[in-house]
Amino acid sequence: MHNSQVFSDSLPKHIAIIMDGNGRWAKAQGKPRVFGHKNGVKAVRKTISSAAKLGIKAVSLFAFSSENWRRPEAEVGVLMELFITVLSSEVKKLHKNNLQLRVIGDKSRFNERLQKKIEEAETLTSTNTGMVINIAANYGGKWDIQQAVKSISQKVQAGSLDVEAIDESLITQHLTMSDIPEVDLLIRTSGECRISNFMLWQLAYAEMYFTEQYWPDFNEDSLVEAVTWFINRERRFGCTGEQVKALMETE
Ligand code: IPE
Ligand code: IPE
Ligand code: MG
Repeated sequence: MHNSQVFSDSLPKHIAIIMDGNGRWAKAQGKPRVFGHKNGVKAVRKTISSAAKLGIKAVSLFAFSSENWRRPEAEVGVLMELFITVLSSEVKKLHKNNLQLRVIGDKSRFNERLQKKIEEAETLTSTNTGMVINIAANYGGKWDIQQAVKSISQKVQAGSLDVEAIDESLITQHLTMSDIPEVDLLIRTSGECRISNFMLWQLAYAEMYFTEQYWPDFNEDSLVEAVTWFINRERRFGCTGEQVKALMETE
């Protein structure tokens, strides 16, 4: 096997990012929180293009949690407007680059204009074969599991599914992002070390990388640093290092 092949095999396939620290970034400069959100969009652009260049299969970005509705109404309003503006201005470029855009989360709570923009963007890019970008908006890991449980229960109730057939892989199939590899690298910026109800099931074996950097400062170098850290970890998936080595010897 060629060296670069070995290298690309050890890259994470799916990177999830909790983009945190916009407010503190702005405050540190004496600016309003929304200034941080606007600059956070630039970091999103840089992250997407760097990840695509690396050949990552999927990137999931936590943009708005199901708990974020508790923020002041004005801030929520600005964030919604920002989604609409960014969707309108960026989608063509993503499409041109063969990238697939999906919005995951409970979209029913968004206003109609935003729902329509989301649908247009998803439809336009749905057949693209490049990297998948999941924007998690009004997303919660508990919500994801809840909606899976509901749809499984409906099938059981309708008689089309046997309770005995419910196993881990069936549950996985009913979660959002079921067609995408599990997250292998989670990044959270701003020094906080918690999951904040982002993906729960899909993070079961993820390596977790926390950086002090605030999200608007995140750039290509930051991503490369996180990915390098990831590659240098010995990943065992619950088996011993010897078992992994034994696998290599049979090749
Ligand atoms: C992350 O930055 C962006 C969103 C949650 C929308 P924050 O807005 O949480 O910024 P901090 O954590 O208050 O600094
Ligand atoms: C998590 O950040 C959600 C997003 C990045 C969208 P928060 O800043 O909202 O999380 P908590 O409230 O500090 O846990
Ligand atoms: Mg925060």
